[in-house]
Amino acid sequence: MKHMLFLAGTVLFSALSVGIMSAQTANPPVMGWSSWNTYRVNINDELIRKQADAAVRLGLRDAGYIYINIDDGFFGGRDSEGNLITHPERFPDGMKGIVDYIHARGMKAGTYSDAGCNTCGSIWDNDIHGVGVGFYGHELQDADMFFNKWGFDFIKIDYCGADKLALEEQERYSAICSAIKDVCGRDISLNICRWAFPGTWARDLARSWRISPDINPSWASVRSIISRNLYLSAYAGEGHYNDMDMLEIGRGLSSDEEQTHFGIWCIMSSPLLIGCDLTSIPEQSLELLKNPELIALNQDPLGLQAYVVQHSGEGYVLVKDILEKRGQVRAAALYNPSDTTMHFSVPLEALEFGGKAEIRDLVARTSLGKVSGSIEADVPAHGVKILRIEGKERLEPEIYEAEWAMLPMFNDLGKNFKGINYRPFEGASGGMTVSRSGSRWENHLEWDEVYSTKGGKYEMTISYVPVEPDEREVNDQCIEVEVNGQKTVLKDIVRDRAEGICRIFLPVELQRGYNTVRIGSSYTWAPDIDCFRLRKLQAPRMR
Ligand code: GLA
Repeated sequence: MKHMLFLAGTVLFSALSVGIMSAQTANPPVMGWSSWNTYRVNINDELIRKQADAAVRLGLRDAGYIYINIDDGFFGGRDSEGNLITHPERFPDGMKGIVDYIHARGMKAGTYSDAGCNTCGSIWDNDIHGVGVGFYGHELQDADMFFNKWGFDFIKIDYCGADKLALEEQERYSAICSAIKDVCGRDISLNICRWAFPGTWARDLARSWRISPDINPSWASVRSIISRNLYLSAYAGEGHYNDMDMLEIGRGLSSDEEQTHFGIWCIMSSPLLIGCDLTSIPEQSLELLKNPELIALNQDPLGLQAYVVQHSGEGYVLVKDILEKRGQVRAAALYNPSDTTMHFSVPLEALEFGGKAEIRDLVARTSLGKVSGSIEADVPAHGVKILRIEGKERLEPEIYEAEWAMLPMFNDLGKNFKGINYRPFEGASGGMTVSRSGSRWENHLEWDEVYSTKGGKYEMTISYVPVEPDEREVNDQCIEVEVNGQKTVLKDIVRDRAEGICRIFLPVELQRGYNTVRIGSSYTWAPDIDCFRLRKLQAPRMR
């Protein structure tokens, strides 16, 4: 038996390695090192070269960490023609030499700027050299400097300066991106740094976008970033990712916390930018960062972000497909953010598996053997189990949560308090609903991968919560449901929020494979949507 488990582990590892290799062409999340977390603006030429050397020496480059990113702190103002110059003491020889140095080591070089006039460092770190060096008014000139003259491959574009100028995010980032395209023939990896999910437009411009304020090396910070990303899975994928910020591994978190931090960043397909001093990284942290099975999970060719399938008490279970969509292999995280050990019981059915499943612990890199019925595990405080699950039978999903839906008009910028959002509701399945959809059709919820093995007739049950009477017009609420472009308007719905979770049924026809379902309301508010369930209707028997 032991022998068999070992074999299973070997086969698994080669499958995951294939994942690493084929992902190279599919724009997986960026992996590398960045200067900000440890050094803030206090960087210099020699320091960056030492970190690049350490990344090679420690095997990090070969493990996939190929970017060396020079964050804020290198600016030295502009010359009389408006060209960017580098800091006279920190980078007296300019940037080209150091970018060449990084490239000569088989790595890529990343940099930093701001969408407005001033860097964040000029505001928060008193870096006077960061005044007037942002992209605003210098789009083409700076793009030419960063990518043609200096040779950078990646840029993170902050928003401190633009915030102060009261500029509009989508406009600013679009102008900068089109300037970069105009001057540079190469494919530049671009990161939008607006410290909150900026809106679905970000996917058209950037490979990744920050979803949260700056990380710091504390459990509270790691936990709050994870909680901000729990319901953003619909926006990640196909080479575009929610950026949970640079890693704080090797900077004093406990071993369980480091595993959670890294494991969740991996299963959520966040960029992985190491933020510690590589010349003094603790051995255990280095081993974690080099764990090939977790790296393969992060760089998986499907590039999906895991979503929450189970939430009880303070615990969450997240899952995603790896290697192949709707295949026999999935990855799951049992995440315990609480301060005490928690027992998890996860029915295989909830992970869409029937029969037995083979489980592997990707953090410990050990096989846990076969289970049937449910996965049972104790997870320590602030801990996680990251599992690879290979099932015999993949079941057709029966439930689609509102919090898995893509909301075309959602952003987390906090500028429109009436905007569509994910909202907790006790008693809702998964504890979450989507609130404030409707009033125009574009403001809907969308599930693009509603799966039917054979196609046919189904009964759809929509669970919803009527809106609060004092909040919005309630008398004319309705729900419009569109299945593959065919719309049904449901007017006969409950309007009293005191009724809690209500249900409405409708027959739908699904095609074989993937279907698109949208729920919203064209002229009125829709109630808060909890989820919809699908039950296959048996075809009547022929006599
Ligand atoms: C902002 C960003 C950080 C870092 C600093 C640099 O705060 O969110 O990640 O780049 O600016 O000043």
